[in-house]
Amino acid sequence: MKSKILNMLKQHENTYLSGAEISETLNISRQAVSKHIGSLKAQGYQIDSVSRKGHRYISSGEKYNKAEILSELKTEKLGHHMFFLDTVGSTNDYLKAIAFKSDDLSVVIAEEQSSGKGRLGRQWDSQKGAGIWLSILLKPDIEPAEAPKITQIAAAAMTLAIEKVTHQEIGIKWPNDLILQKKKLCGILTEMSAELGGVNYVVVGIGVNVNQTEFKELDEKAISLKMVLGSDVSRKTIVTEFLSYFEDLYDDFIEKKTIAKTMLTCRSHSVLLNKEARVITKSSERKVKIINIDDDGQLIVINEKDIEEKLFYGEISVRGLYDYVD
Ligand code: BTN
Repeated sequence: MKSKILNMLKQHENTYLSGAEISETLNISRQAVSKHIGSLKAQGYQIDSVSRKGHRYISSGEKYNKAEILSELKTEKLGHHMFFLDTVGSTNDYLKAIAFKSDDLSVVIAEEQSSGKGRLGRQWDSQKGAGIWLSILLKPDIEPAEAPKITQIAAAAMTLAIEKVTHQEIGIKWPNDLILQKKKLCGILTEMSAELGGVNYVVVGIGVNVNQTEFKELDEKAISLKMVLGSDVSRKTIVTEFLSYFEDLYDDFIEKKTIAKTMLTCRSHSVLLNKEARVITKSSERKVKIINIDDDGQLIVINEKDIEEKLFYGEISVRGLYDYVD
């Protein structure tokens, strides 16, 4: 309800809305209106309240909370069921624990993760208030082998969102990293619960380094948007844009059974195409030349014996010959 009131006030930014108008439109008591407006003010929103005139929205500053995000959300369904947590171990783990009783397309966002998880058992540094730590619960009717395509959808959606908000050129390092100035800006961790022939649920988790000015482990591979742009970037706008792009691309996947549109973005932003790279698994490392990414999201490479191969996600890392990307 608080986000509905916030929405109404924002839509009439330069005018006063009386408590009576708000209470009639939203079908709640005037007392409830005052209580919610009080609580919005307590959260830091600037709302001018004048007796006999009503309430006028002034500004929100950059508030990053559920009411604020919901009031700017443009999706049809994705994220309408949202959890916003101050702190959590991992947003992926949080959704996995409640997956069976929660709705498809639920979203959890946290200000901080105390044990953020990366791919291949790594940790993910998730400082309080600095980044976007977000997971989406999906219950698609697909074969388990199709689930990795959702990682590509998330990568394309976040690339488009960040480019729209910051006008920076983002690269995609297949299958799950977003790159800025040859360093890692964002990672994606997709987890699944499946049985033979059927997916119970997929949780796609995405971490974006937005306003960090340094990284805990002095990680020289990592970068944030603020480090490049020199000023804070709106996490809320990136989140709402991301959810819109994700919904659009995910609808294609579910309704039309294709990720071709996703792959156009992944290919055009790929930092790996036409490069030599190392393919690393737990037990081996070998050199390949990357020649394409197909419409199913598989990496097409030429191996050391000059034979064409397709690489399909799984437990592999792709690294440049000399450093993280090149
Ligand atoms: C990687 O690049 O290794 C993947 C990083 C994924 C991090 C995100 S942050 C939100 C979600 N919750 C987690 O614990 N991990 C993912």
